[in-house]
Amino acid sequence: METFNPWSSLQGYAIFMFLWMINKGSACEPPSSPLCFRRNSSETIYKCEWNQTGNQADVTYDLHFNFAIDLKNNFKETSIDILAEQLITERITESWVEVHTGNSSCRSPRRSAVLGQTVKFDPPNNITVTWIQNSLILKWSAAEKFPALAEIWFRNEDHTETWDKAITNATLSGASTYQAIIRNLLKNSFYQVQIRHQCKQVKEPLWSNWSQVVIVPAELEHKPNVRWKEQLLDGKRKVILSWESVPKAASVRGIRFTLNDTQSSRGCPCKKKIHTTNSTHYTMYVSNSAVNISVIATNAAGSSPLASVQLPAVQMKDLKVCNKTLLGEKLEKSMCLEWYELDEDSVPTNGSFQSRKREKARINETVQDHIRYLYFEQRCHKGKPQTVKTCFFYKEEGAPNKEPQDFRAFGEMHTSVNLSWKAIPLKNQRGVLTHYNLCWVKSNSQDVPPECRNISASETKHRLDKLTPGTKYSISLTGVTRVGKGPEATVTVNTKPEKPVNVWLSFGLLIIFFLVSIMCTFVFKRIKNKLFPPVPRPFIPNFTSHQPETPVTAEHKEEVHDLMLQQLHPESRTVCEETEEVTVLGGQWDDRSGEDMKNDNSDSGGSDEESLSADTLKTTSEREGTDLEQMDSELAILIYRNGLVFDVKTDSS
Ligand SMILES: *[C@@H]1O[C@H](CO)[C@@H](O)[C@H](O)[C@H]1NC(C)=O
Ligand SMILES: *[C@@H]1O[C@H](CO)[C@@H](O)[C@H](O)[C@H]1NC(C)=O
Ligand SMILES: *[C@@H]1O[C@H](CO)[C@@H](O)[C@H](O)[C@H]1NC(C)=O
Ligand SMILES: *[C@@H]1O[C@H](CO)[C@@H](O)[C@H](O)[C@H]1NC(C)=O
Ligand SMILES: *[C@@H]1O[C@H](CO)[C@@H](O)[C@H](O)[C@H]1NC(C)=O
Ligand SMILES: *[C@@H]1O[C@H](CO)[C@@H](O)[C@H](O)[C@H]1NC(C)=O
Ligand SMILES: *[C@@H]1O[C@H](CO)[C@@H](O)[C@H](O)[C@H]1NC(C)=O
Ligand SMILES: *[C@@H]1O[C@H](CO)[C@@H](O)[C@H](O)[C@H]1NC(C)=O
Ligand SMILES: *[C@@H]1O[C@H](CO)[C@@H](O)[C@H](O)[C@H]1NC(C)=O
Ligand SMILES: *[C@@H]1O[C@H](CO)[C@@H](O)[C@H](O)[C@H]1NC(C)=O
Ligand SMILES: *[C@@H]1O[C@H](CO)[C@@H](O)[C@H](O)[C@H]1NC(C)=O
Ligand SMILES: *[C@@H]1O[C@H](CO)[C@@H](O)[C@H](O)[C@H]1NC(C)=O
Repeated sequence: METFNPWSSLQGYAIFMFLWMINKGSACEPPSSPLCFRRNSSETIYKCEWNQTGNQADVTYDLHFNFAIDLKNNFKETSIDILAEQLITERITESWVEVHTGNSSCRSPRRSAVLGQTVKFDPPNNITVTWIQNSLILKWSAAEKFPALAEIWFRNEDHTETWDKAITNATLSGASTYQAIIRNLLKNSFYQVQIRHQCKQVKEPLWSNWSQVVIVPAELEHKPNVRWKEQLLDGKRKVILSWESVPKAASVRGIRFTLNDTQSSRGCPCKKKIHTTNSTHYTMYVSNSAVNISVIATNAAGSSPLASVQLPAVQMKDLKVCNKTLLGEKLEKSMCLEWYELDEDSVPTNGSFQSRKREKARINETVQDHIRYLYFEQRCHKGKPQTVKTCFFYKEEGAPNKEPQDFRAFGEMHTSVNLSWKAIPLKNQRGVLTHYNLCWVKSNSQDVPPECRNISASETKHRLDKLTPGTKYSISLTGVTRVGKGPEATVTVNTKPEKPVNVWLSFGLLIIFFLVSIMCTFVFKRIKNKLFPPVPRPFIPNFTSHQPETPVTAEHKEEVHDLMLQQLHPESRTVCEETEEVTVLGGQWDDRSGEDMKNDNSDSGGSDEESLSADTLKTTSEREGTDLEQMDSELAILIYRNGLVFDVKTDSS
């Protein structure tokens, strides 16, 4: 049993009073107990830190360990780095802080720990976020070369009150990056995320401080919807690109559009340049040769798919053959040459370029004989590319190895024929076509040299004339370059034989003339009969046999006079008019019968008219050969109707 020791109790009281006095006099506030740790499991420096409430001036600290040697005293900071050699790290150690302020001092509570097992990482920094589907991949700087444990808090833009929490293993991704994944998020909304991590290599790890809150924008799912306009300037193009803005959730931490064009990315002719903007349009200058421009949107959580714009080369109306190229020559600094193979449709492909830096040797590889190249000479003028020269060239020309296509003849006449063809395919021209050579020769004449003629290389048809009628010709066409002729396309034609058209024509004319003259003779006869009617023969009575009938003869004479009066009837017409009408009618009848034999006479009105006309004609023709008096009286009662139709009033005399 312990006996009461008044001395010791007095001593304790004295100490207590002393401490009370000190505390009261200086108002010394003790700090929190010191926390000593390494910042990763392979560090050899320990860091000790404590909290000091209140801000007193002239405060100094002493850090004490129960087993420690040579510790620095009287420092002003609330943390201190200590080398491992100065400490006992494998056993439980006690530590405390003593504060000195003014004339007084006080101590923090003690903390005991195995220092070697205490690791506290720095808070995660350099955090990057990436969406993969609906999972968010978080990456940050690794604290050591071992995996760690991570605690992640995250909240959706729509639920900002509470944090969702997850503790997960942070794996090493690369040498110095931790990676953790949170699944089942909504990639179309933005999140706030904070992380802390902990060492897994030691027994008494401490959580690191929380990282800063990181805003994770929504994923950029779609490529920018790029529209563009180009404006032709002198040797260059101004290209205005525009696109729609991205959803707000995706641009919450800012957005950047990066434009990359194939001309400036190769640094030719102007310096390499990456264009970035955060607005929704951009203007750039490109030269006349083909260019691809890509636009990509980037936010903190990644990039959109790439949108690509392909601008073909500016179409040149009359592209000429180059009189000189700078291929293989030493170029000025701002110069750049470009050349493209021209394919079947004259579309430039397989481009190459030469700049001051790029070697000449490549030209031997890329430029081949007999191939047409489109050539651009570019330079950088005031920071903008400019096309100085556009033309095409052949390294070495050849003769065409194919004939003009689809060579054919049509519209053969007696002395001429039309020819048409299609151009030789570009690949087969193998040189600059100077002209076509057209030759023609009579097929049966072996020894006669063919006649030839040059035709412009731009033609695709020709009219060959001054041929002999009714003759077989063989015609050939070849393409010609500076080097020579290509293969022939041939066609055989027969000109039309000389038709006896004139004989038939004159024969026809003869018949017409013959008919007309017959008609005229007939008419003349009639006119003559009318003007000079035949003198009636005097009646000579036979006195000897019919004497008692003499008075009758006198009456008979009067009948002749009556006949003459009838002839001057007011309704009667002149013979000439009538004959004309008959003639016209006759002509019409001929025509109509020709037509109607083809048609099937179904039209009833027409056939009525025809039958009437036929009657008229019949009447007329019957009368031929009867004596003049009778005919005249009958003609006098022909009535003209409707210009075409004659009616006949049958006068029963
Ligand atoms: C200091 O105070 C902060 C906040 O009160 C606390 O999180 C931290 O653990 C304290 N540090 C020490 C060494 O006690
Ligand atoms: C501290 O001590 C000095 C003399 O040593 C004295 O002048 C001063 O007043 C004291 N300060 C306090 C706060 O007691
Ligand atoms: C982390 O970010 C800092 C500045 O923010 C930078 O200096 C450092 O290089 C970055 N570290 C890594 C590993 O990216
Ligand atoms: C952590 O450990 C590595 C070696 O593994 C070291 O290079 C690094 O400096 C250490 N400290 C911190 C704070 O990362
Ligand atoms: C971390 O990984 C270890 C195995 O390496 C496993 O036992 C543990 O459950 C994992 N922790 C979490 C939170 O996934
Ligand atoms: C951790 O947080 C505390 C209190 O906020 C601060 O005093 C301390 O410096 C932080 N540590 C690091 C390594 O940032
Ligand atoms: C731009 O495009 C070129 C090829 O077209 C490519 O080599 C280059 O890496 C791209 N640059 C950027 C920043 O995308
Ligand atoms: C674009 O960036 C500028 C600064 O570079 C900034 O002032 C402006 O607000 C940004 N605009 C958008 C739409 O992000
Ligand atoms: C543009 O892109 C298309 C398709 O990817 C490619 O065929 C063409 O060669 C490119 N043009 C240029 C000038 O790079
Ligand atoms: C080449 O052609 C251009 C015009 O097309 C002319 O100005 C130049 O003098 C020509 N050069 C030679 C060497 O013929
Ligand atoms: C482009 O080059 C490739 C490979 O050299 C070749 O196969 C292709 O035929 C070329 N294209 C044209 C249109 O010449
Ligand atoms: C290119 O080829 C020509 C002959 O085809 C040759 O004379 C010349 O030396 C070659 N140039 C290079 C750089 O190979």
